[in-house]
Amino acid sequence: MDAYNLILKKKNGLELSASEIEYLIKNYSSGALPDYQMSAFLMAICWRGMSEQETVDLTTAMINTGKILKLTEEFDCLVDKHSTGGVGDTTSLIVSPIVAAAGCVVAKMSGRGLGHTGGTLDKLESLPGFNIDLTNAAFINQLKQIGLAIIGQTSELAPVDKKMYALRDVTATVDSIPLIASSIMSKKIAAGAPKIVLDVKVGSGSFMKSVADARKLADIMVQIGRALGKDVIAVLSNMNNPLGMAVGNILEVKEAIDFLNGNYSDDLFQLCLELSVQILISAGKCRQRAEAVTLVNRMIDSRKALDKLAEMVEMQGGEQGYIYDTSRFPSAAHIVEIKSTHQGYIAGIDALMVGRAAMELGAGRATKKDEIDLQAGIKLLRKSGDYVRKGQVIAEMHTNKPEKTAPCQALFLNAVTFCEEKPKSCPSIIEIIT
Ligand code: URA
Ligand code: CA
Repeated sequence: MDAYNLILKKKNGLELSASEIEYLIKNYSSGALPDYQMSAFLMAICWRGMSEQETVDLTTAMINTGKILKLTEEFDCLVDKHSTGGVGDTTSLIVSPIVAAAGCVVAKMSGRGLGHTGGTLDKLESLPGFNIDLTNAAFINQLKQIGLAIIGQTSELAPVDKKMYALRDVTATVDSIPLIASSIMSKKIAAGAPKIVLDVKVGSGSFMKSVADARKLADIMVQIGRALGKDVIAVLSNMNNPLGMAVGNILEVKEAIDFLNGNYSDDLFQLCLELSVQILISAGKCRQRAEAVTLVNRMIDSRKALDKLAEMVEMQGGEQGYIYDTSRFPSAAHIVEIKSTHQGYIAGIDALMVGRAAMELGAGRATKKDEIDLQAGIKLLRKSGDYVRKGQVIAEMHTNKPEKTAPCQALFLNAVTFCEEKPKSCPSIIEIIT
């Protein structure tokens, strides 16, 4: 076997065998295959695609470059949840404690934000002292004690993904369905949970701009799971508007805490409810939907989910006090109101543009090396479907970079579209794929 001929084969649109794919991935992981050959291979995949079998084989080859966590023997009801990335997506900080409070074990590895999308790890680091780097022993001990831990992706699981992702990032080969699916699923499967619920975002603020593409991505991820012995459920959810009322790290942690205190916006509630229900049913905690809905509401109303979040924060080195008193979080030095330039119903607030504006204010990274400002972001005061008057405050910019407020205000106002009649509300959930 040689790399040249395998690249040529894919370039010509032929199907590669499992051993051919393994050859390329293994050698790239070890350093024997150079970046330029992997780049050419990735580009060939972008143009030619991959069959379902090839995508499963690619995922398997990626998993086999590292360890596989064996947690299934130790824990019943082990579940994992993953989002393909969105704007204002606080769901992991809400859903994980809800289902853990209901008796599931959530062993979650999260990522950082990049570009206009946020990352759970950055949000958690809004809590002073919070440690995302637990040893394996500490991770397992915490799962035994409280059933919930959220940590950074360890470099031992599917390590080739990190190398491939960095290469894809600079060779314009990120947006390929087989590459995205294998990247996500290799990490999820190596992390060991037998039940995985995926939140596949659709719309301007996400990778997948159309329902058809999101469905393809969801389908292949479910198939990969099935082929490798996992139960995977994909929830297709709307990402045309920012999720909830907050975009930015501290702002979203506070939003998650407010949610667990019973104060939430409808779109965020619908999504968190659905993800939690799917997890509870998949884990065998509930048989029927109605039962799962009741359980989720009970975990919120009783503050059991809030207490679970607080336990996790304390065990990972943070202070519970922040969870019970959000006024302790620092706020940005400049909070600038954005006033509506129109009168009418808000038809939509474009998630991508708001994500970009929040990033400019300091909430996100343009490149992996950028530092983020945990205090920065955007708070929405009005959402799609609300009626607003000209001059009414519709959002707040939170920033420590006052020079950014004028351009970001313009960007935000561009993101808002109006209509004269009350628009139909868009459902948060588009489809469930199992
Ligand atoms: N998230 C990942 O982990 N990988 C991708 O390729 C895209 C999103
Ligand atoms: Ca939000």
